Amino acid sequence: MNITMIGSGYVGLVSGACFADFGHNVICVDADANKIERLKTGEIPIFEPGLDELVANNVEQNRLSFTTELEPAVKGADAVFIAVGTPSRRGDGHADLSFVYAVAQTIAKALKGFTVVVNKSTVPVGTGDEVERIIREVNPDADFTVVSNPEFLREGAAIEDFKRPDRVVIGIEDPRARDVMEEIYRPLSLNAPPLVFVGRRTSELTKYAANAFLATKITFINEIADLCEKVGADVQEVARGIGLDKRIGGKFLHAGPGYGGSCFPKDTLALIKTGQDEGAALRIVETVVAVNDARKRAMARKVINALGGSVRGKKIALLGLAFKPNTDDMRDAPSLAIVASLAGDGAQVHAYDPESMAQARPLMPEVTFHDNAYSALEGADALAIVTEWDAFRALDLDRVRSLLKQPIIVDLRNVYRPGDVRKRGFTYVSVGRT
Ligand SMILES: NC(=O)c1ccc[n+]([C@@H]2O[C@H](COP(=O)([O-])OP(=O)(O)OC[C@H]3O[C@@H](n4cnc5c(N)ncnc54)[C@H](O)[C@@H]3O)[C@@H](O)[C@H]2O)c1
Repeated sequence: MNITMIGSGYVGLVSGACFADFGHNVICVDADANKIERLKTGEIPIFEPGLDELVANNVEQNRLSFTTELEPAVKGADAVFIAVGTPSRRGDGHADLSFVYAVAQTIAKALKGFTVVVNKSTVPVGTGDEVERIIREVNPDADFTVVSNPEFLREGAAIEDFKRPDRVVIGIEDPRARDVMEEIYRPLSLNAPPLVFVGRRTSELTKYAANAFLATKITFINEIADLCEKVGADVQEVARGIGLDKRIGGKFLHAGPGYGGSCFPKDTLALIKTGQDEGAALRIVETVVAVNDARKRAMARKVINALGGSVRGKKIALLGLAFKPNTDDMRDAPSLAIVASLAGDGAQVHAYDPESMAQARPLMPEVTFHDNAYSALEGADALAIVTEWDAFRALDLDRVRSLLKQPIIVDLRNVYRPGDVRKRGFTYVSVGRT
């Protein structure tokens, strides 16, 4: 199959490289000339484990190429995937669909022969209808259909998720699209994940429902963690106790500083907006968003309280900035709210993250960045762990203790066992563990 992938970010680049690895011919397009230039010279503009090798192999096999020229890349494509960003629209939380609609306008003119236009971006219900309307308006003679195929990959495990998905949801309105989509995903049949064919609107809503549910699960366990702290229970054990129940499942039950990242915050807001517009308010999701926002601020207070109620003039070492490990993505990372609160209260924040510092620097001008964890710790009044990179689990705690001015660890990801750390003479504050 000839596939054109429009948008070569976290989703487009991973999806494009994986489709090429399945044996399809893939052209990845991006409007960002600098990104395409880097990709052409073999440089991967994002951090995603295994992606550099996957891209290099498929470029070498002539199955994967990069361009900024959208129109020629669309001619001759069996399927054109749209994987551009859909950030929150300023002001009302609705998804900003301007990138998606701009792509629809441009591809309309270039479509040749029957083409399946696939929305892989996360888009509100009805966006497929609008993309179809735009293409039809610009090019009334085009032979095409619009499909919804939301992406469920997780950054940090994106290739594995793409190649071994739990399911692939495909929303179609034209039966001809089914054959094309089955052919595109046929190489997955070895692992036999279900291709779930549904209507286009159902598919669009399924993506939002999935993300809202996962955000709810995280927020639920975070509130249970607060209660654990009050009553002397251990949230990790509660999570295990409920997670072993197959009806609940153990994933997304790790208490922490609140969800962040490029998807949950904007997707929960967009779903709430759709619910309000349609007169079917999603009160649970509305509460989840409010609780999660408050939580990020509360995490800074945890650090402040550990230091006796004031951080003015204190030096705080912050380890981990990305919204989760194994990514460099800083979008809506809890660290942003935590740094803003601590710096706002007069603390000097010194930080280290293995991959995200280039992205974090412009977002946190008040922070001093270090090129390794131990250097950030020197003379600090406390250590706060904000992202659970494996490297932080393996820190030499005796060295940590010798570097810190005060042996205080605020572990917002429950990386350590309270008993182990306290035994080494630290004051240890966790999330929901006593
Ligand atoms: N990041 C994730 O983990 C994830 C997971 C599932 C779904 N999604 C969804 O996938 C979509 C893409 O997310 P992302 O994280 O890959 O975004 P991203 O910002 O990393 O990438 C989007 C890319 O699209 C390019 N672009 C914008 N307008 C363009 C145009 N007119 N022509 C060509 N390229 C254009 C941008 O330059 C950018 O490189 C979003 O809707 C997101 O919600 C993301």
